[in-house]
Amino acid sequence: MSIKLTSGKEIPIEMHKTRMIQKITLPPVEQRLRAMEEAGYNTFQLKTKDVFLDMLTDSGVNAMSDNQYAAMMKVDDAYAGSMTFYEFADAVKDILGYKHVMNVHQGRAAEHLIAKVFETPGDVVPTNYHFTTTKVHIEVTGGATCLEIYADEALKTSSTHPFKGNMDTQKLKNTIKKHGREKIPFVRMEATTNLLGGQPFSMANLKEVKQICVEHRIPLVLDGSLICENAYLVRQRERGYEKKTVAEIVKEMCSLSDLFYMSGRKNTSVRGGCIATNNKELFEKIQPWLPVYEGFFTYGGMSQREVAAMAVGMREMVDPDVAGCAVEQIKYFVNKLVEIGIPVVTPPGGLACHLDAKKFVPHIPQSQYPAGALTAALYLASGIRSMERGTISMERDKDGKEVFADLELSRIALPRRVYSMSHIEYAIDRISWLYKHRNLIKGLKFVFEPPVLRFFIGKLEALDNWGKDFAEACKKELGEH
Ligand code: F0G
Repeated sequence: MSIKLTSGKEIPIEMHKTRMIQKITLPPVEQRLRAMEEAGYNTFQLKTKDVFLDMLTDSGVNAMSDNQYAAMMKVDDAYAGSMTFYEFADAVKDILGYKHVMNVHQGRAAEHLIAKVFETPGDVVPTNYHFTTTKVHIEVTGGATCLEIYADEALKTSSTHPFKGNMDTQKLKNTIKKHGREKIPFVRMEATTNLLGGQPFSMANLKEVKQICVEHRIPLVLDGSLICENAYLVRQRERGYEKKTVAEIVKEMCSLSDLFYMSGRKNTSVRGGCIATNNKELFEKIQPWLPVYEGFFTYGGMSQREVAAMAVGMREMVDPDVAGCAVEQIKYFVNKLVEIGIPVVTPPGGLACHLDAKKFVPHIPQSQYPAGALTAALYLASGIRSMERGTISMERDKDGKEVFADLELSRIALPRRVYSMSHIEYAIDRISWLYKHRNLIKGLKFVFEPPVLRFFIGKLEALDNWGKDFAEACKKELGEH
């Protein structure tokens, strides 16, 4: 939650205490330069020994609760019929309201199964916005085309619109008219749109989308990887929901979708995922494929220890202190950067603080990967590892041509219950230094480019070797650290 100090200043306050710690170090700038060069200017390729604050992602790196650790000790490891799985299924029923559930090893495994089972080549899948792995599964596994049906406001990085994750319902109707319902295996809504900057959709929008889906007999699929943050923001921003609990909003959201999946690595703070539904027919279409690609029905590729922790995490994730811990930190982080005039995605969303690279380093053309360059520079200046979410995160088209991303973002994620206010203050300070020295940042070019999801293992080079001059400037002005 957030709390008002007597001075009037509002700060996010941690509603937990730290009882186990992991040491981190801030490597000197020469080490950071060496590490960045070895990593090919790709923060995914850094080793954590070279990282100070790991804000690459909130996936699989959240702090678990004491109750989650306790649950991991008491586990039924049976291959088939494990009671641990049934405890998880009970949690899914109580929290999400679904009768049928299967585990998968992580979110993209759910995307793989859904694309494989429901899509045929030539189909189109409308979504409020894609996630990287979603798009690859829709297009590569399913042979369909992913259609982004976002509202115009979504691409305005600087905005006060509370629900930039909304789907444009008129465009959805037009899409259905154009392609016909037979070509649309499902409509997909992502609860807080990751690549748009963790922006939520409203319940009113979800209801409208559902209505259109019902009219055309098209199933609605909900990606609930960040569902609790979406619900928390609905509670704060949507009229009529102020008095509802996060738990009630989550359940209502789920009741509107025909098929639900999630990466459990975010909201439930474990390493796993699941697919759930009340529609037996849809469930039974996917079920036979689970043991082919994931594992037996009562573990689905996950360790039972993680299933046990996910059952507890599922119940804990709707606690407003859990659902809101990252949201409140992000709000503070983003608002502070706005105050000092730094271009960030607004309003604050539910996943990370996103620097808008098109505005931060406007001198770098998209063909030279501004978000990648900014992400590398932030690491050099601070030891903070963030993630490129721009053109490097896109796939080339069929002819091998570069596809420029709608948005060029450096994503500074806030893993849940991991970092403190002083870490955030440090990040704010180094980002403002970076902004003052933005002209020292230049572009990047690929020296190794894999054929798919190139952002993971691709290697790049700093044009004119700018990293070296930049590191020298850091050392001169910021000292050893
Ligand atoms: N859907 C959304 C909205 C996601 O944010 C992610 C993962 C996935 C699906 C895939 O799930 O990683 O468990 O296979 N997002 C991570 C991130 C990777 O860093 O934002 P996964």
